[in-house]
Amino acid sequence: MSKTVLIFAFIYFLVIQAIHVEVPVDLSKKKEYVVPEHIDKILKDACYDCHSYDTKWPWYSYMAPVSWIIRYDVSHALRWLNYQRWDEYSDKKKEKVLRTTIRLIDSGMPTPIYLMMHDEAKLTKEQKQQVKDWANELLRTKEY
Ligand code: HEC
Repeated sequence: MSKTVLIFAFIYFLVIQAIHVEVPVDLSKKKEYVVPEHIDKILKDACYDCHSYDTKWPWYSYMAPVSWIIRYDVSHALRWLNYQRWDEYSDKKKEKVLRTTIRLIDSGMPTPIYLMMHDEAKLTKEQKQQVKDWANELLRTKEY
């Protein structure tokens, strides 16, 4: 690569930093999602970065173009499921989320790329089973 190309690439990199993608957040709607303690820990460790308003933003989430991808992903995830707005969901939606959770907890959620970057989100077999048992119990009792 010639020096000119590198200089242009660097300038381009600096310029794109000015473009921000905002994640829509409405903190007035935020409510704590109350679940048993062991489930609470799992959801907070493995799901809350994308499915709550308590996202912890790592340093690379501030650097375009990675920041765009991450922020787009979180916005998308929040539209599907925000545990801190659980109360607003219909029973049908809640049921769907719980069924999907049972299906995705073994592989799919958290997303594979996220798992590569987050050791604390790697759930043990036992934790995955706890999530499934919890979700199944809620579906049975309908006390979601
Ligand atoms: C890195 C971001 C990220 C993390 C972490 C994450 N998700 Fe998701 N999740 C998404 C995205 C994005 C979607 C939207 C659907 C899609 O693109 O597949 C989604 C969709 C879902 C849905 C579907 C909701 C519906 O109405 O069908 C469920 C359920 C779900 N996630 C559960 C979880 C659980 C449980 C965890 C933690 C164990 C988790 N997710 C962690 C990004 C994430």
